[in-house]
Amino acid sequence: MIEVKNLTKHYGITVAVKDVSFSVKKGEVLGFLGPNGAGKTTTMKIITCFMPPTAGTVEVGGSDILEDPLSVREKIGYLPENTPLYSDMTVESYLNFIAEVRRIHPRDRRERVNRMIETCSLKGVLKKDIGALSKGFKQRVGLAQAMIHDPKILILDEPTSGLDPNQIIEIRKLIKELGKEKTIILSTHILPEVSATCDRVIIINDGQLVASGTPEELQNRAAGESVIYTTVKADAAKVQTVFTSLGWVKKCSVESKQGERARFKLLATQDVSDPTEQLYDIAVKNGWMLSELYRETLSLEDIFLKLTTS
Ligand SMILES: Nc1ncnc2c1ncn2[C@@H]1O[C@H](COP(=O)(O)OP(=O)(O)OP(=O)(O)O)[C@@H](O)[C@H]1O
Ligand SMILES: [Mg+2]
Repeated sequence: MIEVKNLTKHYGITVAVKDVSFSVKKGEVLGFLGPNGAGKTTTMKIITCFMPPTAGTVEVGGSDILEDPLSVREKIGYLPENTPLYSDMTVESYLNFIAEVRRIHPRDRRERVNRMIETCSLKGVLKKDIGALSKGFKQRVGLAQAMIHDPKILILDEPTSGLDPNQIIEIRKLIKELGKEKTIILSTHILPEVSATCDRVIIINDGQLVASGTPEELQNRAAGESVIYTTVKADAAKVQTVFTSLGWVKKCSVESKQGERARFKLLATQDVSDPTEQLYDIAVKNGWMLSELYRETLSLEDIFLKLTTS
């Protein structure tokens, strides 16, 4: 549905996006992650025809962004980072205006506008000027304008930014629901949001793609080595020797000691699938008393940090 190939964007001497390629399949919800200044907004602006790339190509539903921008724009609903809303229009007149701009048939306009009012919970502010709205309500109006023409593709730049916790949950639910029939790219800094709403994730850092996959795949791949904590009641030196002799144990250190109990920290290599079971087995065979056995897995946060800090 969306094909981004070797995308590069320079702003003067700043290289905001460097040779980025990815694709989004029909019906997929893609999470676009990256720290501040990574190039997310820039990429989204190019996909939505707000800005031409310096190099590379983007196709949206078979249309090229440079050759057929009108057709691309028709297929897409875009929530920009800072929604440029008309501040002296009321919410109601703005939505009607957008419905007109989006060339929704006059017969269907009222129904579409009402649908958006319902979906984005805007009933209470219809008569208010947009300029007088709180940040969160402006964001909701932004979402409403992005979806009003029922586009097949939604590009949402930080859709939950500025929303209160209740509304965040509502919007995530909505995105998940929309994702059943639409293709969505959303950028976010909120990592639990990705696990909650996205089928696939790409991470960019400093304009370059550093990872892509399902949230689970990223967790598995980046996990690499895992850390295991175990507390054993036995001769600590012997336990350490036995653990260290295991092929998959990179390092075994004594974290703390209390009476006959010692707490060990083990660094396991990637190529062992059942380290805790093996340790349990060894303890049983040696008649050691185990009072703790815990494997630490990396969260999406850890992975993000690992990939985007150097
Ligand atoms: N109009 C501009 N002129 C010059 N440089 C720009 C412009 N817009 C963005 N940049 C630079 O391009 C880089 C990427 O910015 P971009 O806004 O795409 O990042 P982002 O991933 O959306 O960040 P954030 O998470 O803060 O929204 C940054 O170094 C930024 O300073
Ligand atoms: Mg941005």
